[in-house]
Amino acid sequence: MLEIRDLHVKFHSRCREAVAGVSLSIADGEILGLVGESGSGKSVTAMSVAGLLPRKQCDYSGDVLLDGADLLHADRSALRKIQGREIGVVFQEPQSSLDPVMKVGKQVEECLYLHTSLTKEERRARALSAMAAVELSDPEVLYGKYPHELSGGMLQRAMIAAAAVTHPKLLVLDEPTTALDVTIQSQILELLKKLNREYGMSMLFISHNLNVVRKLSSRVAVMQTGVIVETGVTEDVYANPRHPYTKKLVAAIPTRKKKNF
Ligand SMILES: Nc1ncnc2c1ncn2[C@@H]1O[C@H](COP(=O)(O)OP(=O)(O)OP(=O)(O)O)[C@@H](O)[C@H]1O
Ligand SMILES: [Mg+2]
Repeated sequence: MLEIRDLHVKFHSRCREAVAGVSLSIADGEILGLVGESGSGKSVTAMSVAGLLPRKQCDYSGDVLLDGADLLHADRSALRKIQGREIGVVFQEPQSSLDPVMKVGKQVEECLYLHTSLTKEERRARALSAMAAVELSDPEVLYGKYPHELSGGMLQRAMIAAAAVTHPKLLVLDEPTTALDVTIQSQILELLKKLNREYGMSMLFISHNLNVVRKLSSRVAVMQTGVIVETGVTEDVYANPRHPYTKKLVAAIPTRKKKNF
């Protein structure tokens, strides 16, 4: 359903390409993990998929196809139809992605407002059910709250509800759990698995945490300095990393030690 072919992105202000010939594909209902060191081009790849590349600041080439429709070169109005409807996006910092002066419920239903002709009541009902689906307790109450009244974990759930409210084909998640503590992190991972299972949403899941990727994704791609150095079935890559950089990453995973409390 998603196919990236030979993607190149070079920012005018940089000498090196941020993305230097990436090819990736995601099948229907699949979760692909994308890992790699800081600055390796993960977020720029995600932005290219989500139609969020600052086009004026860079040169880009290649193909990004969602069910055959070109995203990389699509014009604004075509992009706007796809963004939020067929692709949902969740970034690391819910605090900066949500509007502080807009009620949470309104933000969850924003994509419905933009992309559907549902009535106000229907939108509210859909938003409440999306909030329930991400296991936010008391959606009716939270609907009328402002972002600062929610905890970090609740905000991230609200962001996921907002991204998933239109039941997009693809969710792009860029380090969605990095800012959260470990317990909340694993709850969010379970939630993403549930969305994948129940709605068949495909996901591009970016993380620098290999353990997190392992829990969630069936395939993984490893990125270093703008290129994919290794890709494969997650368990195979972990059990038998071939590229020296992947070997280093796998060796650096902290092994779980039993703690005595
Ligand atoms: N708007 C921009 N203007 C100029 N350079 C940029 C811009 N956005 C990203 N870059 C550069 O592109 C390269 C890739 O950045 P990117 O954000 O994709 O890395 P990343 O793999 O997501 O890293 P991290 O794990 O830290 O999030 C970096 O060298 C970065 O500085
Ligand atoms: Mg990033």
